Amino acid sequence: MSYPWLRGDGRLRHLITLDGMPVALMQRLLNAAQAMLAHARGGRALRERLPGATLCTLFFEPSTRTRSSFQLAATRLGMDVLNFDVATSSAGKGESDHDTMATLQAMGVNAFAVRHSRDGAVAELAAAAAADTVLINAGDGRAAHPTQGLLDMLTLRQAKGHDFSRLRVVICGDVRHSRVARSDIHALRALGAGEIRICGPGNLLPDADVTAGCHVYANFDAAIADADAVIMLRLQRERMSEGLVPSLQDYSRDFGLSAKRLRRAAPDAIVLHPGPINRGIEIDPVVADGAQSRVLQQVANGVAVRMAVLSELLDA
Ligand code: NCD
Repeated sequence: MSYPWLRGDGRLRHLITLDGMPVALMQRLLNAAQAMLAHARGGRALRERLPGATLCTLFFEPSTRTRSSFQLAATRLGMDVLNFDVATSSAGKGESDHDTMATLQAMGVNAFAVRHSRDGAVAELAAAAAADTVLINAGDGRAAHPTQGLLDMLTLRQAKGHDFSRLRVVICGDVRHSRVARSDIHALRALGAGEIRICGPGNLLPDADVTAGCHVYANFDAAIADADAVIMLRLQRERMSEGLVPSLQDYSRDFGLSAKRLRRAAPDAIVLHPGPINRGIEIDPVVADGAQSRVLQQVANGVAVRMAVLSELLDA
């Protein structure tokens, strides 16, 4: 399958998914993000990079990290930023997503970072966007969260080097409802990760097509043995229609990351979590705040990754 989101010149047209992204493009984005890190925490060095470009963060679902980091990333590249407040907008009067985008485009917005509860919603907006408008998927339903996938890969690279071929990476928790897990799996596959281990209770595992090529575990103690990285996921209770998790206590016992369980992993294993964390449920506070945790480094990397993506999409 060819990746449909490229321009004629091989550059990225929209960032919708990491599924099928050419590995050279993924590496280029990661290299650019690493180079941006020095400017991701402030400074004015890149403030002339994308002058006149305007980013709108259009979030139909809540967000702390993703939205703030898009806002900071755009600001540090010299863009104008509009944070569109869906809750108080005419979306509540029934205006369609497409009309909302067209309205903001007419005001000069040429980049949208969109979060939506529905799988495929951002791709649909991309198909309808004006020729000079770029779309970035900031999380659509369960489908994809490509900038999170990239920042997770950057965090892995910083700890383990660029060669993933010997890495054992565990993704544990509510994989079924997780767009982060899907984008991480797409990226890990593209970058040639040695072993991708997927772990969770049976009713929170996704369909087999999602985990193709991965090792699937029902037992976390087995999955974590000698792992180099453990990516923990939040229980997506807002996406569960049935009572899929009867008891949080049982869940935490079987699939929570405790300090004791982490000792089964490789001694230099790192721990990731996209946030927000349910402390004490999927991850013990001692681990979340411990020496092996890279949770806040992921957040810092998120700004750099979003700077790199905006530059790729908008820099002429
Ligand atoms: C994730 C999301 O929204 O998909 N959060 C994030 O972007 N850091 C994960 C989650 O909500 O659990």
